[in-house]
Amino acid sequence: MNRKYRKTIIAGNWKMNMLASDIKPFAEELKALVPKAKWCEMVFCVPFVNIPAALKAFKDTRVAVGAQNLNENDHGAYTGEVSAAMLADLGVKYVIVGHSERRRYYGETDTTVNKKVHAAVNAGLYPIICVGESIEQREMGVTGELIAFQVKSALSGLAAEQIHKIVIAYEPLWAIGTGKTATAEQANEVCNSIRAIIRKLYGARTARSVTIQYGGSMNETNAAELLSKLDIDGGLIGGASLVPEKFAAIVNAANQEQA
Ligand code: 13P
Repeated sequence: MNRKYRKTIIAGNWKMNMLASDIKPFAEELKALVPKAKWCEMVFCVPFVNIPAALKAFKDTRVAVGAQNLNENDHGAYTGEVSAAMLADLGVKYVIVGHSERRRYYGETDTTVNKKVHAAVNAGLYPIICVGESIEQREMGVTGELIAFQVKSALSGLAAEQIHKIVIAYEPLWAIGTGKTATAEQANEVCNSIRAIIRKLYGARTARSVTIQYGGSMNETNAAELLSKLDIDGGLIGGASLVPEKFAAIVNAANQEQA
């Protein structure tokens, strides 16, 4: 983390878990475990139908609510879809875009990710853009090129002033839900390369202001080490975000004094 230049964001991605009725007790438990968040911003990205319950449960706390997806179109005949304006209208602040599970199971491409990023930013939402390589791609030695392609495609057409509204999450596919975390060095190397790409595209001042998270089996035991790295500005957390004690431990690790 480097708090001087950018925000630390600890975000939970609840994926398809938790019922609306689970959220209030969860929020109450969490509140007792985290100090009035000092430096880091807390976010929970919840299923669409649970957004109202989450907004209510986290009202008057410093926890923001996010969605896990959005449609790239403004409005129209897209049965079953949800637009950026609908999310913004409810009071949603963040939205995950291009999670590997959506790329893998629902055919999302770098082109749709780019359209969704524009839709989110235009509606005033903060997209959390996910990028990451598979184990085969890592072993082939193409991680750098692949991540550069994903980042450049996702940001295509955005102006420098819009970059301040985006968050990037580096989530290696082989670390998601596997219990296998990237080492802090591996994660920082890729997060650093993402910042270098943004620097090339938008300049040093913009690049140093962008929050870049790590995601993939981040938990209460490995968070402190990952977050001690300069280019890792937070986490996108799946499994451990479903347990108040675990999520709180990660937040508390992010709130430690910086050396
Ligand atoms: P896990 O923390 O369960 O590995 O999930 C990571 C993730 O996909 C967050 O978006």
